[in-house]
Parts: sequence; C-alpha cells; structure tokens
Amino acid sequence: MAKNRVLPYPIIAVNDADTKHLFDNRYGTGQSTLDGILRATNILLAGMNFVVAGYGWCGRGIAMRASGAGAKVIVSEVDPLRALEAVMDGYQVMSLKDAARIGDVFVTATGNKSVIARDHFLKMKDGAIVANSGHFNVEIDIPSLEELSQSKKKARDFVEEFTLENGRKIYLLAEGRLVNLSAAEGHPAMVMDMSFANQALCVAHLVKKKGILKKKVYPVPNNIDKQVARMKLKTLGVRLNRLTAEQKIYQAGWKEGT
Ligand SMILES: NC(=O)c1ccc[n+]([C@@H]2O[C@H](COP(=O)([O-])OP(=O)(O)OC[C@H]3O[C@@H](n4cnc5c(N)ncnc54)[C@H](O)[C@@H]3O)[C@@H](O)[C@H]2O)c1
Repeated sequence: MAKNRVLPYPIIAVNDADTKHLFDNRYGTGQSTLDGILRATNILLAGMNFVVAGYGWCGRGIAMRASGAGAKVIVSEVDPLRALEAVMDGYQVMSLKDAARIGDVFVTATGNKSVIARDHFLKMKDGAIVANSGHFNVEIDIPSLEELSQSKKKARDFVEEFTLENGRKIYLLAEGRLVNLSAAEGHPAMVMDMSFANQALCVAHLVKKKGILKKKVYPVPNNIDKQVARMKLKTLGVRLNRLTAEQKIYQAGWKEGT
C-alpha cells in the first residue's frame, strides 16, 4: 500500500520488532501449534515425519518443538538462506513435492497461498494430517482438496476426513484456519504480553509524532524494543551485566585488540 501511495496514515511494522517475532512467532506459535494439533488429533508425534512449510519465525518454532517431541522434521522453503539455515539446524530440507510422499503431518507457516496444493494431495500417504498455522485459510488449497475428494466427514472436533478418489484419506484440521487459535487457545499470555506492550508503546509513539510521521511504513523504534525486553526480563527476575566505562571505550575503539 505504501508503494502504491494508498496508505491513509503512518504505519509501524510491529511484527518486525525483535520482541515480537523472535518470541511470539517463534516460541508462541511453536508451542501453540503443536498444542492445537495434539488437542485435535491426540496423535503421538514421536517418530512421525513432520513437514513444516516455511522456515520463518513461526516455522522454526514449530520445527523446534516438533523435533523436541521426537518427530522427524522436514522443512520446505522457497528462500535459499532460510533453507540453508534449516539444513544446518539439522533438519531434512526438500521440496514439498518430495515431502508430500513421506509426510505424516504437514503444517504451513508461510503467509502465502496454495502452498499445499492439488499435486501434493495426490501424492500424500493414506492418513496424512494437514494443518495451517500461517496467515489465513488459503495456505492449504482446500477447494482442490474438495474437488479431489469423493466424500468428507467430521472425524473428531476440528478434524475433517476427506476420502480422495484414489481411496486415500487426508485429515484437514480446523478447516485450514490457524490451528493454534482454532483447536487450542493461541499463544500463552506470557508471550503475548511482549507483542501487546510493543503495540501499546508504538501507538503512544504515533501519537507523540502526530503530524511528523509520513504515510509510510516505519520500523519499531529500537528504544521501544529494548524497553519491552527490559520490562520482560524484570518480570522474569533476570538481571543484566552493565558495560563498564572501560568496556564502552574498548568496543568503540580501534587501537586495542586488533
Ligand atoms: N498462528 C499464529 O498464531 C501466528 C502467529 C504469528 C504469525 N503468524 C503468521 O504466520 C506466517 C509466517 O510468519 P513468520 O513470522 O514465520 O514469517 P516469515 O516471513 O519469517 O516466514 C515465512 C517463510 O515462509 C517462506 N515461504 C513463503 N512462501 C513459501 C512457499 N510457497 N513454500 C515454502 N515456504 C514459503 C518464506 O520464504 C519465509 O521464510 C505469517 O503469515 C504470520 O502472519 C501466525
């Protein structure tokens, strides 16, 4: 919208704050996505091939927690850097086409659409479970799944069983909507506190800068990020070291230590 000059007012990209995506997206989505999948299905994750599409902040949280539960995590990406990170974090990385054949559970966290699509459904094993924890219920191409199916029925709360023309069954969780919000309770307040603090402080910042900020997208001011982190640490009873005067001079200098 900024590029097309149609923003009606200044925007602060709160999602890009470190105290948002490093915590809410990673640890919040990581934990609550598994919570949603487990509440809906009661499956045992240990030993399962668990496919995560998108290795952003949400995806890496989901991958980390699934791996901790004993699943064999497979990551699928479009970005070479993110894919490489996933490789070096110890996951198998492959195209979704390849992963479709071997996955037991699939979770999308890309912010994109039709990430799991017609061709993938056709390759999936009987009993595959498909869920979304990304942006919206378009990450999984549900119209294609409907088209490929000869019947569907409710298997459990938040679990729809699709029987494909090829006889295989695919289980779609929470209608492809965010599984952590639909089938569980979303993120714990213990991580949302930082996101909401960010939002509140950014609104205060916008008010203070009224008339000065343009109709553009601004990053969260670094002092707000730091303030939120400091407040969170205080509530956790964690204290920081303080840089000594000598250390500050050393950090800023170039004459010593090179
Ligand atoms: N479930 C929740 O409660 C919750 C919480 C926070 C954010 N979100 C949503 O989750 C989504 C991801 O957030 P994020 O912070 O991880 O974003 P991000 O931008 O860090 O990561 C998204 C990743 O998906 C990858 N990607 C895009 N298209 C792809 C495709 N077709 N196949 C494979 N990978 C693809 C990108 O390369 C990127 O690495 C966003 O839509 C966000 O709004 C959900």
